Amino acid sequence: MKKLEGQVVIVTGGARGIGEGICKVFCNEGAIVALWDVLDEGQKTADKIAKNGGKIFYQNVDVSNQESVDMAVAKLISEYGKIDVLINNAGIIRDRSILKMSREEWDQVMHVNVDSLYITAKAVVPHMKAANYGRIISASSVNAFQGAFGQTNYSASKAAIVGFTHSLCREVGKYNITVNAVAPGFIKTEMTDSMPQDVIQAGISMIPVGRIGTPEDMGHAYLFLASKEAGFISGHTLHANGGAMP
Ligand code: NAI
Repeated sequence: MKKLEGQVVIVTGGARGIGEGICKVFCNEGAIVALWDVLDEGQKTADKIAKNGGKIFYQNVDVSNQESVDMAVAKLISEYGKIDVLINNAGIIRDRSILKMSREEWDQVMHVNVDSLYITAKAVVPHMKAANYGRIISASSVNAFQGAFGQTNYSASKAAIVGFTHSLCREVGKYNITVNAVAPGFIKTEMTDSMPQDVIQAGISMIPVGRIGTPEDMGHAYLFLASKEAGFISGHTLHANGGAMP
């Protein structure tokens, strides 16, 4: 029996990187996946996964815009009548040391990485409450816990996700909704490909399992928390980093 058979899942930021890995793994487990992204390349990603038998479709959604999210949720509800799983994976970086960081770079990161949690929860939680079932899992980061040069905005936003998770899990547990976070370590995606080669190699040398993580590695971490079997785990942050920060 597949772990997510017939379940309706939203994966934000699913066009590429970790989000694409989550979409692939969830489709293999029988989920019906709504791939949300602002990049039209989301259509190609969905087509590619659908060719291999996945039930997946692209919705152009900006997670930092309440109207955009509400419209997409309304479409899903009218078509399927429920949303079982929400994966808040979309995120951005605007790295710069604090002395050089503009207010705009700070605000952009907070808007996409933090405001989106409020926006998607406001749209989705009422439907999960009505169904008396739900799984909400959001992307934190190893850098929320250890920090990184040039990432005061990003680290603060990813730490906010942990606090949000702790509080929301207390509010919605009685509706059989669990709320968790995944804190990825160093994962090979377009986000990390843009880093200098020597920084990438230095990063890998710090990972006890001896390799960079893959989007599919992350897909399996999310899958565990999204499964019905994980119903007694809530308010948790799963550190998926190859042992880099045990
Ligand atoms: P990525 O940059 O490759 O993909 C992020 C996706 O989110 C993109 O497709 C982008 O278009 C989408 N997105 C951005 N703003 C959006 C918006 N307003 N509405 C809808 N979609 C939007 O990033 P990656 O590496 O796949 O990371 C995914 C998540 O995991 C992010 O939240 C990131 O902060 C987190 N993470 C990644 C790590 C890594 O090593 N790659 C490490 C720790 C955390």
